[in-house]
Amino acid sequence: MAADEPLVLGIETSCDETGVGIVRGTTLLADAVASSVDTHARFGGVVPEIASRAHLEAMVPTIERALKEAGVSARDLDGIAVTSGPGLAGALLVGVSAAKAYAYALGKPLYGVNHLASHICVDQLEHGPLPEPTMALLVSGGHSSLLLAPDITSDVRPLGATIDDAAGEAFDKIARVLDLGFPGGPVIDRLAKEGDPAAIAFPRGLTGPRDAPYDFSFSGLKTSVARWIEAKRAAGEEVPVRDVAASFQEAVVDVLTRKAVRACKDEGVDHLMIGGGVAANSRLRALAQERCERAGIRLRVPRPKLCTDNGAMVAALGAEMVARNRLPSDLELSADSSLPVTEPHVPGAAHPHSHAHSHDHDHVHEISKDNLYS
Ligand code: KG4
Ligand code: ZN
Repeated sequence: MAADEPLVLGIETSCDETGVGIVRGTTLLADAVASSVDTHARFGGVVPEIASRAHLEAMVPTIERALKEAGVSARDLDGIAVTSGPGLAGALLVGVSAAKAYAYALGKPLYGVNHLASHICVDQLEHGPLPEPTMALLVSGGHSSLLLAPDITSDVRPLGATIDDAAGEAFDKIARVLDLGFPGGPVIDRLAKEGDPAAIAFPRGLTGPRDAPYDFSFSGLKTSVARWIEAKRAAGEEVPVRDVAASFQEAVVDVLTRKAVRACKDEGVDHLMIGGGVAANSRLRALAQERCERAGIRLRVPRPKLCTDNGAMVAALGAEMVARNRLPSDLELSADSSLPVTEPHVPGAAHPHSHAHSHDHDHVHEISKDNLYS
């Protein structure tokens, strides 16, 4: 770790995790996370107002914990990075406000960065600098996309995305139908290990010859699994939970890995990065490894703790912004719940004293679970 590499603190509050990470260049120094997931569990999903309140309470203690863990003083920081979007508007606002307050009080540059680009950049903390371009499959409760990133700080191109449910959302919904609790991914992953993935042939969405090659669809699969379970119950038969979990999971990871490997081949990229909460899935990791090896593609997947939402990923992208001399954000930075994936960060006006900026999006967007992520 070189002492001249940028020391950056990153704040993440786009959903239900209050994450604060500190990195020096591509080295992780601290990764403090306070989650309100238990508070949401009884509602079967994240409740935005509860998440915002929890961020507010956890913000300062989590920042202090991260600084202590890293053994650095806030005065030594070279920058403060924060997720400014996409995500839940009210939740983002807490992180953005905190970052602005710290940046202003300490006189440090502020970097409002994109949540999705951060999910990709975090792999630098585990496997070193990202190859350029990077092919990334991002799969979580809020997003499922295939992205090609020639430069993670300035050029991220969407190749495809889900046209309905996100992959993690499908795991959560099927877990609800099976009465397995929330979030559903980890428990389905665990039960699937004891089930037969070939027991039930569930549909593979958008894999026909005329379908968009890189887009995903999981709502048909979800309906098909729910109907299958209902039919069993209606017939008074026992639902083979482990086989259903394994067969459903296989349908999801089969499509994800098939399309990701195809995108690498089509674009001539010889490695694949997988990130987001669903990247913690053991079968996704195994099948991706198998298919990548067969295709001569190198697979990069960060450890599970770096795959789910965290502050270290935001710090990692912030450090890259500093290293590449990207323009910091203005102190007027707004949270943008639908920040496009094509904007890795929100640069300020080139002239810091000019007040003629064109913020056409307001702080508060209408909150609807359907338009949270672009
Ligand atoms: O990235 P993340 O922490 O938050 C979002 O931005 O959504 O992802 C959470 C999602 C949830 O839907 C959860 O069920 C899923 O990731 N997940 C998993 C696993 N662990 C978490 N899905 C499948 N298998 C897992 N092992
Ligand atoms: Zn995320």
